Amino acid sequence: MTIRRSRDLYVVLSVCGLIHVRYLKEVLLLTVRKATISDAKQLSQLAEQTFRDTFAAMNTVEDMELHCQNSYSENIQASEISNPNMVTFLSEDEDRLVGFAQLRWGESPSCVLAQSPAEIQRLYIVKDWHGKGIAQDLMKACLEELKGQRADVVWLGVWERNPRAISFYKKFGFVEVGEHVFPLGSDPQRDIVMARPVISS
Ligand SMILES: CC(C)(COP(=O)(O)OP(=O)(O)OC[C@H]1O[C@@H](n2cnc3c(N)ncnc32)[C@H](O)[C@@H]1OP(=O)(O)O)[C@@H](O)C(=O)NCCC(=O)NCCS
Repeated sequence: MTIRRSRDLYVVLSVCGLIHVRYLKEVLLLTVRKATISDAKQLSQLAEQTFRDTFAAMNTVEDMELHCQNSYSENIQASEISNPNMVTFLSEDEDRLVGFAQLRWGESPSCVLAQSPAEIQRLYIVKDWHGKGIAQDLMKACLEELKGQRADVVWLGVWERNPRAISFYKKFGFVEVGEHVFPLGSDPQRDIVMARPVISS
């Protein structure tokens, strides 16, 4: 799937000693596609970088290190990409990865009432690309995939101290249904569990 997005650019020009700030819009062609095993290395780097950018300021170096060691490496992401109970979507600007989302089937917390639940395990966009609609494109790709997989409810856990992500999910119709513990290194953190029907009325 290829999506057109515009990027705002400010160009500073110096003409006859006067500074002009010109505002341009650049059309970008972003692609959302499923990951293959050959993406594992780049995905592991993207996943670790975006996790650190999001949470490093609010957590200890030791907890961040422990979490990253246990969660990100070429081998770990390769096994996630090839896991039949997971799907990984990548968002690309030409050949640069700018975001990703991972879906997973299996266990769900008891507060998620569903016949066939699925989880958005991760959804991360590179910092410079926030607010440009990439997360929305990835979310739409996830919902389409889940329709095809006949999941009835999609759920996720989001740290209670992550207001931007919570707002984003609410915008997509997720509501709070409970909570669970997410161990970040040695720190048991409170995640809000949010859910919505895959097909909204
Ligand atoms: C969460 C994330 C995927 C959302 O992507 P995004 O490109 O920032 O999303 P959008 O800009 O389209 O939407 C963000 C919405 O959050 C809200 N928002 C934006 N900035 C906000 C802020 N500083 N504080 C609170 N809410 C904010 C708004 O409701 C906004 O919607 P609006 O533009 O219609 O008002 C992205 O910010 C991200 O990758 N964050 C870091 C990783 C992360 O936290 N992942 C989720 C883990 S559960």
